[in-house]
Amino acid sequence: MKRLCAIALAALLSSCGDGAETPPATGFATLPQEPYRTLAEWRLFRDPVAQTPADHVLPYTVNAPLFSDFTAKFRFVAIPPGRHITYRPDGAWVLPEGAVLVKTFAYPRDARNLALGYQLLETRILVRTRDGFAPHTYVWNAAQTEAVRQVAAPPVNVSWIDEAGATRTNEYIIPNTNQCLTCHGQRGLTDALAMRTDQLDRAGPDGVNQLDAMAARGWFDGALPPAAMRSHFPDVRDEGAPVEARARAYLHANCGHCHNPRDRSMASVTGLNLEVSETRPSNLGVCRRPAMAGSGSGGLDYDLVPGHPERSVMLFRMRTSDPRARMPTVGTNFNDPFGADLVERWILGLTGDTCGTP
Ligand code: HEC
Ligand code: HEC
Repeated sequence: MKRLCAIALAALLSSCGDGAETPPATGFATLPQEPYRTLAEWRLFRDPVAQTPADHVLPYTVNAPLFSDFTAKFRFVAIPPGRHITYRPDGAWVLPEGAVLVKTFAYPRDARNLALGYQLLETRILVRTRDGFAPHTYVWNAAQTEAVRQVAAPPVNVSWIDEAGATRTNEYIIPNTNQCLTCHGQRGLTDALAMRTDQLDRAGPDGVNQLDAMAARGWFDGALPPAAMRSHFPDVRDEGAPVEARARAYLHANCGHCHNPRDRSMASVTGLNLEVSETRPSNLGVCRRPAMAGSGSGGLDYDLVPGHPERSVMLFRMRTSDPRARMPTVGTNFNDPFGADLVERWILGLTGDTCGTP
C-alpha cells in the first residue's frame, strides 16, 4: 500500500514537471527545485494573510514554546500523501521526505483584544529533504499583503500593545538562513525541534488532540499508543501542573537545543545539559562551576544551587541585560520574565546539596 502511494506520488511529480496546466490543490506535487519567491506559491494556505491553512495542512501548538520577544506564533505541518512519520514515544520523530513545517511570527496589535488581529513579521519554512531540512524565510511586507523569500533580512521596527495595556516597541530580529543551524543544527544538518510526542501530545487549536488528528489523517507508520499511555510535557503555563515538570519542559525548549551533549550543539562544551532526558544533577548545573567567571556569571560560583535561585548563575543569566552574559545568546532582544520566574520557583523548591555556604 505504502509502495503504491509512493509510485502514485512520483507519477504526480513528473506530470507536474511537464508544465501541467492547473497546479494541484496541494503544495506537494509542486515542491520546487528552486524555492518559491512568495509564500502564497507554496499553496499551504487557503488565505496566507489570515493564516488559514489549506485542507492538507494541520495547524498545531506546542506544550513548551520557544520565547521569541513576546511574538505570537502560528505553526503548521503537512505530510505528503502516502508517506509516513516514524513515531517515537520519546525523542524526535522521523519525518518523511517532502514534509513541510511552517512557523509564522507575529505581534498581536493589542494583546488584550486578539480580535484586532496581528502584524505578521515572517513565516519560516522547513522542508524535509533527503538529508535534513531545507530552511526558508518569507518576510511579510508592511502592507501585509504578501510575504517574499529573503535569505538575510534587516530587523523590523514594530510596536504593539501588551497584556497590561502598555505600548511596546521592538527592533525584531529576523535570523538569516545560515543562522537556522545555530539552533536547528545539532547534528550539523538542519533538524526539526518540536516534532516529538512530549511537545505535540495536547489539544490543538480546534480542541482535538493533535496526535489523534495526525493519526486520523493516516500520517503515522503504525498505530499510536492510546492517549493515556503517552507521556508529554505539561503546558508550561498550566498553573495546575507541577512546577518541576513545567520548568524542565521550559528549559528543554528554550535552552536544550544548544545545551545538549551532541558535538555540533553550540553549548555542548559547557557540559550543562538542559534537555528533559538529563537526570544527573551535576549535568543540570547543580554545584557546577561555570566556565565564565566574573561578570559573565554575575560573580556567582555555581550554575545551580538547590533552594537558592539568588546564588544560581542559571537564573542570573536569564535575567541580566548584559549581552555578554545573557541567555539564550541569540534570537531575542528581551528576556523572558515568565521563564525566569518559573525557573526561580523550580530552583527554590529543590532540596539537597547546597554547594557549601556562601
Ligand atoms: C534561537 C534558536 C532558533 C533559531 C535561530 C531558529 N529556530 Fe526554528 N525553532 C526553534 C525552536 C526551539 C523550535 C521549537 C519550539 C517552537 O516551535 O516554539 C523551532 C521551531 C521551528 C519550526 C517548527 C518545526 C520544528 O522544528 O519544531 C520551523 C518551521 C522553524 N523553527 C524554522 C526555522 C528557520 C527556517 C530558521 C532560520 C531562518 C529558524 N527556525 C531559526 C529555535 C530556533
Ligand atoms: C543559542 C545557543 C544557546 C541557548 C539557546 C542557550 N545557551 Fe546557555 N550557553 C551557550 C553557550 C555557547 C555557552 C558557553 C559560553 C558562555 O558561558 O557564555 C552557554 C553557557 C551557559 C551557562 C554557563 C554554563 C557553564 O557551566 O559554563 C549557563 C548557566 C547557561 N548557558 C544557561 C542557559 C539557559 C538557562 C538557557 C535557556 C534559558 C540557555 N543557556 C540557552 C549557548 C546557549
